[in-house]
Amino acid sequence: MGKKIEIRADYELFSKAEELPAIEAELLARAHAACDTAYAPYSEFRVGAAALLENGEIVLGSNQENAAYPSTICAERAAVFAAAAQFPGVVIRAVAIRVKTAGERVERPISPCGACRQVLFEFEWRQEAPIQLLLQGDKGDIYRIASTKSLLPLLFDPSFL
Ligand code: THU
Repeated sequence: MGKKIEIRADYELFSKAEELPAIEAELLARAHAACDTAYAPYSEFRVGAAALLENGEIVLGSNQENAAYPSTICAERAAVFAAAAQFPGVVIRAVAIRVKTAGERVERPISPCGACRQVLFEFEWRQEAPIQLLLQGDKGDIYRIASTKSLLPLLFDPSFL
């Protein structure tokens, strides 16, 4: 038997946005509003993201789907790429991610896909500072996660190259 190594991840749970600092509550609200700009005719799963930069700017993103499905871009990736293009070199402090669906409302926090976790992590790597994640569905509980790193145990980072 090999030596057992444990990897820990933790997050904070909130039951409503009013429990958060005002800027974080605002970020969640902006991400929810950004769902309305999604182009999601195929999944009808409209995701919005809001990135808070250290200069105070908030950059929004939403999922943009494509008939060639894999060409779709997720909301959080759209937001951080837009932030990097519009404000190069400015640290991203936090990213909020929300969803609005056509049918039944999502009442649990949306979780970023693996590709987005990888991309968010590389931003942390580049800026040498963590990105706080705020996750919420259409309504309901909020998860606050201090760094994308905790969502990607044994991650692949640029130091391998
Ligand atoms: N999607 C996001 O934009 N972010 C996520 O965190 C999960 C999934 C999008 C991709 C696709 O347009 C739709 O949601 C359904 O997967």
